[in-house]
Parts: sequence; C-alpha cells; structure tokens
Amino acid sequence: MKDGGFGRRGGKLFLSFILFPLSLLIAACAAPEPVAEVVPTNTVAVLAPADTATPFPTQGVPATLTPIPTITPSPTHTPTPTSTFTPTPSPTPTKTACEQRIPPQDELLVIVSQEFGLSRAYEPDNLVPIGSHFSREITLGYPTMVREEVLDPLVNMVNDMLGAGLQPYIISGYRSYATQEATYNKWLNLEPDRVDILSARPGHSEHQLGTTVDFGSYRLHDYIDDSFDEKLQFHTYFYKTPEGDWLQNNAHLYGFTLSYPRSAQEVTGFYYEPWHFRYVGVGNATALLEAGTSLTEYLLNQDPEPCYN
Ligand code: DAL
Ligand code: ZN
Repeated sequence: MKDGGFGRRGGKLFLSFILFPLSLLIAACAAPEPVAEVVPTNTVAVLAPADTATPFPTQGVPATLTPIPTITPSPTHTPTPTSTFTPTPSPTPTKTACEQRIPPQDELLVIVSQEFGLSRAYEPDNLVPIGSHFSREITLGYPTMVREEVLDPLVNMVNDMLGAGLQPYIISGYRSYATQEATYNKWLNLEPDRVDILSARPGHSEHQLGTTVDFGSYRLHDYIDDSFDEKLQFHTYFYKTPEGDWLQNNAHLYGFTLSYPRSAQEVTGFYYEPWHFRYVGVGNATALLEAGTSLTEYLLNQDPEPCYN
C-alpha cells in the first residue's frame, strides 16, 4: 500500500475517518546480524525516572533552559491530506495477543505492540538502503534501510527540514528480529527495571516493519544538562529541540506518525519517544494527529484483530 492509498485496514481507517458522525468531532546496539542492520553502538538513551513518567519529567531540567526557537515550517512537499477523520470514542476491547505473525508485505497499518508481535521470519521484501540519498551527517555513516515506499517521503521530509535550517540526523530504520533481540538485551543490562518501557522485545518492535525511523538532533545538547554523556543520542528532551518540534508538527504531512506520544504511554506500554516515527501515509498520519490518537490506540480499537495465523 503506497502513501495516500489504503489497503484493507488502511481503507477501514480511512472509511472510519470519513463515516463517523460529525457530531463526534477530535523511540540500539551491535548484533549478530548483517552489518546493514547494526544500530550505533554508542547510542545512549536517557529518560526521566519511571516514577516521573507521567506527567512530564522535570528531573534534569536546567535552571535556565534555552528558549525554544520558534520554527516556521516551510515544507516544500506538502501533500494534501485525504482524510477528514472524526474519531469515535469507543471502549478498548479485550484483545487476544498474537505472536509470531507474518503480515502482508504491502500493509502499512499492522499493529506491532507489547501484545502483538512479528515472527522472527518476517522481513520486508522491499528494503532499500538510504545512504546514497543523504549526506554522512544525516546517516552518521550507518547502513540504515527502510521499505521502498518510505524512502521518498523520508528524503522529502529530511530535505525540507534541512531547507528550514534544521539539523536532524537519522539514528535507526529497519531492525531485524535478531537485531531487536540484541537491542533489547542491551537495554536489559543497562536498565533492568525499565527495559520493557524503553525497548520492545524481539518481534515487538515497529522497526522490524521497515517503516519506522528514529531521528536525532545535533542540537539536543543545548536542551539538556551538561552532565549528560557526549554520546547521548536519545533523550526525552528531543521534543524540545527545533528538530523534535518540527517533526511533531509536520511529520504527518509526509505520512509519518509519532508512535509513542506521552499521552499514550498507558496504552502503548512504552515511554514517550519523541524521536520514533512510523510511516503510515499522509491521510492516516494526518487523521491520527488531528484525532490526538496514536496508531496503537486506533488499531486496538479495530475488530477483528489481525493475527495473520
Ligand atoms: N524503543 C522502541 C519501543 C522499540 O524498541 O522499538
Ligand atoms: Zn524507534
């Protein structure tokens, strides 16, 4: 399913956006896998302590934060949203977890969550390397891959960010089951008490879909305490950076949705990850943003749940 098109569940999402009554108007490691899937080994994620997860962490906030620059987005690639989603409040049904799934290759709206997993055997069949499309400053020299349909939107979005004077980089794209296994184990060693809110178990990462990208900001250090590690790449305060702010406000225009917003921590089971964006197409991403709903929340409310096995 391409950007702007809708497959079975995409169509369902689109239709539900259209049909509901107007009255109801509302983000690593070395792995025993091919080098192409290796995620930076110096990546360090720092998040606020779990007990301040909700609401926002305040620990570590410098006394005087640099004011957040106001970025006026000037995307040169702004597809017209194709959906006028009007969400319908609905109870979250009890779901039976599905593991080891092998979803259709062209499906963009596959739920991948704490409960719904992917088979070790699942690998997108149209992964493409992004390296030749970006400078080394953007890819950090890592051989990141994404699914083919994600490439153009990603290139357009990052180029527009650069055109707006922003300083983004790409930390991670596709990760195989085995790479995620190594990633999870790394976090298990680093943060044994919080591993399951920081990292997905193997088979449960959206990165295995090939449609998900983690972004970084060269200006992150301007927004966090000096005491933080120089190698720091992930930090909740990414949301404060001009790059994080721009993505929050504009990623949907390119078809990307923020998978783990702070508002959805209880539903997704993952801590706020302002750097983790998944491609779902412009219409879907726009509808989700306008609804204030995460993709996981939306898909959990769909019935029947696709176990694909
Ligand atoms: N950090 C996200 C949840 C992942 O491991 O995919
Ligand atoms: Zn991620």
